[in-house]
Amino acid sequence: MELPQKVQIVEVGPRDGFQIESAFIPTEQKIKIINQLSETGLQRIEATSFVHPKAVPQLADAAEVMAGITRKEGVRYLALVPNVKGVERALQAGVTEISLVVSASESHNKSNVNMSIAESMQALKETVRIALDNGMRVTGGLATVFGCSFEGWVPPKKVEEIVQEFLDMGVHEISLGDTTGMANPSQVSEMVARLKPILKDIELRLHFHNTRGAGIANVLAAMLEGATIFDSSIGGLGGCPFAPGATGNISTEDTAHTLESMGIDTGIDLPKLINCAKLVQDILGRELSGQVMKANPVPWAVKTR
Ligand code: COA
Ligand code: ZN
Repeated sequence: MELPQKVQIVEVGPRDGFQIESAFIPTEQKIKIINQLSETGLQRIEATSFVHPKAVPQLADAAEVMAGITRKEGVRYLALVPNVKGVERALQAGVTEISLVVSASESHNKSNVNMSIAESMQALKETVRIALDNGMRVTGGLATVFGCSFEGWVPPKKVEEIVQEFLDMGVHEISLGDTTGMANPSQVSEMVARLKPILKDIELRLHFHNTRGAGIANVLAAMLEGATIFDSSIGGLGGCPFAPGATGNISTEDTAHTLESMGIDTGIDLPKLINCAKLVQDILGRELSGQVMKANPVPWAVKTR
C-alpha cells in the first residue's frame, strides 16, 4: 500500500463536538479542554464557531473562548464561520484561520444556514474577500458531500462545482465533510481522485463522521489517494444539529492510534491525548464513543516525544 509518512489531524471537538451538546459547557471548561489538547502534539484545533448564538447556543461564547485560551506556539487555532457577520466577529476575536461552510445539498444548506447554495456562495465571496484582505487563512468547507439526511445521494458533480467556486475565490484549502456519516471507502477514493486535478496545490482536508462505522475505513481510502489532512473529535464527540440522525466524528485518539500503529507520523503523544479524552468524558459526565481510551493503546502506537 502506498501510504503517506505523515498525516495532520485537525481536532474539531471544541466546535463540531460541543455544538451538539445540549447542556451548556462552561466557558472555562471549554478553555481547559482546548489548552490540554494544545499539549498533545496536535497542530490544528478548531476551537469554536462564529454562528448565530440562537442557532448554536452552546458556542455563544466563541469570543470568550478565543480570548481565554493559551495559544501554544506551533498550534493553529481555527474557527468556523458561515457568513460576513461571522468573519467580522472572528476578526475581532483575533482569529487568523477560518473554515467556511456550505452544504452540497440544497435542503441541508437551507436547514444549516438558511440560504440556497447559490446565495451561500454569493455571501461567501464577500466573506473570503474580507478574510484574505485581513491576512486570514481560509478553508472552503463543504458539508453533506457524501450524502444528505434529507435528499439522500449527493451528485459528485455538484461537489466539484462548489469546490471550483471556492478555488476561484482564492481559498487555501478545501474540506470535504461527511456530515451525515454516509460515505463509504469507494465513494471517498473516487471523490478524492476526481478532485485532484482541480485542486492542484490547494490542500485537501477530509471530515468524516463515524455514524455508520465506516470512519477509519474512509480515512484509509482517502490516504491511499494521497490525502494527508483529517478532522476528528476528541472522544468521538460530534454531530450536526441541523442534520437529523447525525452523530459523532471519528475519534481523534482512535484515529491517531490507528495511524501511529501503522507507522504514520501524526506528531501526537497518545497517552496525553487519551488523558484529554478522559477529561472531556469527566466534564460531560457520560461515556463517549472513543474506543482506545477503554482498551488502552498497543505499545507500538506510543512514541516518546
Ligand atoms: N453571528 C452572529 N449573528 C449573526 C450572524 C453570525 N455569524 N449572522 C447573522 N447574524 C445576525 C444578524 O446580524 C441579524 O441580526 P439582527 O436581527 O439583530 O439584525 C440576524 O442574525 C439575522 O441575520 P440573517 O443574515 O438573516 O441570518 P439568519 O437568521 O438567516 O441565520 C445564520 C443565518 C448562518 C447566521 C444561521 O443560520 C447560523 O448561524 N447557522 C449556523 C449553522 C451551524 O453552526 N451549523 C453547524 C456547523 S456546520
Ligand atoms: Zn461534522
